[in-house]
Amino acid sequence: MQKLTLTRPDDWHLHLRDGAALKAVLPHTVHQFARAIIMPNLKPPVRSVADAAAYRDRILAAIPAGQRFEPLMTLYLTDNTSPEDILAAKASEFVKAVKYYPAGATTNSDLGVTDIRKCDRVFEAMQQVDIPLLLHGEVTDPEVDTFDREKVFIEQHLAPLKSRFPKLRVVLEHITTSDAVQFVLANDTIAATITPQHLLFNRNSLFKGGIRPHFYCLPILKREEHRQALLQAATSGNPKFFLGTDSAPHTRSSKETSCGCAGCYSALHAMALYAEAFESVDALEKLEAFASFHGPDFYQLPRNTDQITLTKTTWRIPDEVPFPESGLVPLGAGQELTWQMARY
Ligand code: DOR
Ligand code: ZN
Repeated sequence: MQKLTLTRPDDWHLHLRDGAALKAVLPHTVHQFARAIIMPNLKPPVRSVADAAAYRDRILAAIPAGQRFEPLMTLYLTDNTSPEDILAAKASEFVKAVKYYPAGATTNSDLGVTDIRKCDRVFEAMQQVDIPLLLHGEVTDPEVDTFDREKVFIEQHLAPLKSRFPKLRVVLEHITTSDAVQFVLANDTIAATITPQHLLFNRNSLFKGGIRPHFYCLPILKREEHRQALLQAATSGNPKFFLGTDSAPHTRSSKETSCGCAGCYSALHAMALYAEAFESVDALEKLEAFASFHGPDFYQLPRNTDQITLTKTTWRIPDEVPFPESGLVPLGAGQELTWQMARY
């Protein structure tokens, strides 16, 4: 196949940041995707509908002239989020979900939830008005091995949550293990996003010839058997699995340091990365549904009607793209890809 034409996809998990960083990265997403679920972990986080409205306006103002893009907003759940905040979110029409970060789990999660049971009144309201809960599914207990934190979260927090709120619609974000795949398959009302890095790389990439900070994200890359399980899920055609890049830009200097930030930057070349992953298991024909159908169906939004085209062209991922302060290193910098989006 030399050309791949798909219904325009959406990104169901994206970090856009703010200010000059937002302006630097947004064009990459807009070039490929019609909509994206925008993560709320700004500093300070997006906690209210008013915060989300203001952030949405800043995103809309940063869209390159003549292009179209719809930011789908989320609220950042804290110990103090109230059922009234949920009703306001539902009434807003542009807030599409609520994001749960365990306090201390990842970038800008200090104000996240300290104990998931503290939010039961909020989950009750979300179940009632049918707003999806998006989970960063990792425990933060320092005693739990980093590579086991997703599995333990599922056992200790997600399974009980599902029992308490059987109708609450949940997206387990950026899944990284076969345990997560199994749990999603076994539970109606639970879906999952899958990132390009977790489909293309295993944990060896973190240590190839030395420590590789640009492969460090959370949840961290896992063993090859888990990557295989994720590839199988993504290419299965099951509507529970859909595209969410978790593209998370950090300056080069904040990653290449003694205590580097978590996050891989994939918005630049997301669709080419996913095409590469799907082609590796001879499943390119499954890419359109994963990228363009399953997400809008879960979020009860219309599918896009226009298209994008990728061509079979070998190109090298740049070492760096412009970004405030010290530049931004894309996922897989320097490596070759064989699919390419039409140029700007
Ligand atoms: O690697 C990550 N980066 N994981 C997250 O959960 C947050 C994200 C970020 O905001 O940088
Ligand atoms: Zn994320």
